Amino acid sequence: MEARFWSGMLVIAVALMALLNVSAAEEGEKVLTLDHSNFSEIVSKHDFIVVEFYAPWCGHCKSLAPEYEKAASILSSHETPIALAKVDANEEANKELATLFQIQGFPTIKILRNGGKSIQDYNGPREADGIVEYLKKQVGPASAEIRSVEDAASLIDEKNVFIVGVFPKFSGEEYDNFMTLAEKLRSDYSFGHTLDAKLLPRGELVNKPTLRLLKPFDELFVDFQDFQVDAMEKFIGEATIPILTIWNDDPANHPYINKFFDSPNAKAMLFVNFSKEQDLFQPKYNEVAALYKGKGISFMLGDVDVTQNAFQYFGLKGDQAPLLIIQNAEGQKYLKANIEPSQIAPWVKEYMDGLVKPFIRSEPVPQANNEPVKVVVRDSLEDTVFNSAKNVLLEFYAPWCGHCKELAPILDEVAIFFEKDPDVIIAKFDATANDVPSETFDVQGFPTLYFRSSSGNLLQYEGDRTKEDIIEFIQKNLDKPAQSTSVTSEAGESDSINAEPIRDEL
Ligand SMILES: *[C@@H]1O[C@H](CO)[C@@H](O)[C@H](O)[C@H]1NC(C)=O
Ligand SMILES: *[C@@H]1O[C@H](CO)[C@@H](O)[C@H](O)[C@H]1NC(C)=O
Repeated sequence: MEARFWSGMLVIAVALMALLNVSAAEEGEKVLTLDHSNFSEIVSKHDFIVVEFYAPWCGHCKSLAPEYEKAASILSSHETPIALAKVDANEEANKELATLFQIQGFPTIKILRNGGKSIQDYNGPREADGIVEYLKKQVGPASAEIRSVEDAASLIDEKNVFIVGVFPKFSGEEYDNFMTLAEKLRSDYSFGHTLDAKLLPRGELVNKPTLRLLKPFDELFVDFQDFQVDAMEKFIGEATIPILTIWNDDPANHPYINKFFDSPNAKAMLFVNFSKEQDLFQPKYNEVAALYKGKGISFMLGDVDVTQNAFQYFGLKGDQAPLLIIQNAEGQKYLKANIEPSQIAPWVKEYMDGLVKPFIRSEPVPQANNEPVKVVVRDSLEDTVFNSAKNVLLEFYAPWCGHCKELAPILDEVAIFFEKDPDVIIAKFDATANDVPSETFDVQGFPTLYFRSSSGNLLQYEGDRTKEDIIEFIQKNLDKPAQSTSVTSEAGESDSINAEPIRDEL
């Protein structure tokens, strides 16, 4: 398999150099531009290719672009050249590709192997040198043999998780399964294998096949001896989540922050000012985190100086810190502002016992609401939409969303058209500053439009976003008896809610 892989790489390398020369000559760019018309063809010619899915409006994509280009240029002259490509996932014609690759946010980078048959997430750094180092490792063997203390020292980075298989011989089922696992998870973790546990920086000697996970936090190493691939994968998933995730400006913590946000657990997030208060809060908070380990809740301690975007995302204010917020698996939030270290344990216990009331976010109800399109906030939603006995068209929008900006003047015209009709309200709801009641409205992207007739019939508007079509829809559905709709969401038309998740700030 190894030999085939390398001879494959050689063939690809030659083909790739030809390709790179063409594109370099044409546009001076080393990053290949792919689209729906040539994606499959180009990818199928590569044993290894990296593809960035981006959107032109995405800020993180813009900061990545020069670094990605620089990495592409360095990697093009690597002994086995590595191809970097990009796809504009915002382009209508490429949306099918984005769906196929389950792109949820931008930028998303995928590693495609074997002509695209195997797909992994790129979990490496976002600056040129880091990208180069990470990708060089990705084209080599999935697990490196450790033959000496020097090998161990150069391979094992004390700040990251490292997974070693210790074997009496490099054959047999355990060894094979370990290699399968390493191949599967290589874009997430670094792997090594050795015949001699003495060479490793931590852990005892073992006399049977052992998977040893070295980590820079908590107990520093853990051993595991069930060599079923699934069992090892599950073990690694659990062992690599720290009891307490730290969110500061140290890039070494970023993978753990991503894991924290990807976890299905409830999430407790304590935001304090690290330069003043970290030492005051961390010991008490850590005790609480250790107490609830394995109970469906994960804990994070964030520095207010680097987590501004999280604050914005949750609609919090700086003067609420030190602040503890818990978001449960259903997305409900629980909040304790200006918390003191001694209050952490009792408040978390209250939460776990179901005694804390959820926090529902709302902007203040506007005093004057004289524009044609009315402003609805969470605190006025009930009165304006559900109890007003009017026909209401409600737009859920985000201030940063381009499609919403395009829709705004059209909604204005619709509102002016209905101005004489006291039974019709056209309204908008900033879903980034107000919590959307998700039991009633399914807001997966922006803008999302709902219409509620005065008799209570609730419909999602899925038509074209033109003045004529919206007016016609409202006129058709005004006060009509209940009718059902079965319309699929046109996610493609909307800016994804997850377009720039907070973790992309890293
Ligand atoms: C793929 O096609 C697009 C235009 O459809 C073109 O701009 C791009 O250069 C092509 N990519 C490659 C690598 O040939
Ligand atoms: C955190 O504390 C430092 C030192 O007191 C201060 O300079 C900084 O402005 C504080 N940061 C925030 C976000 O309050």
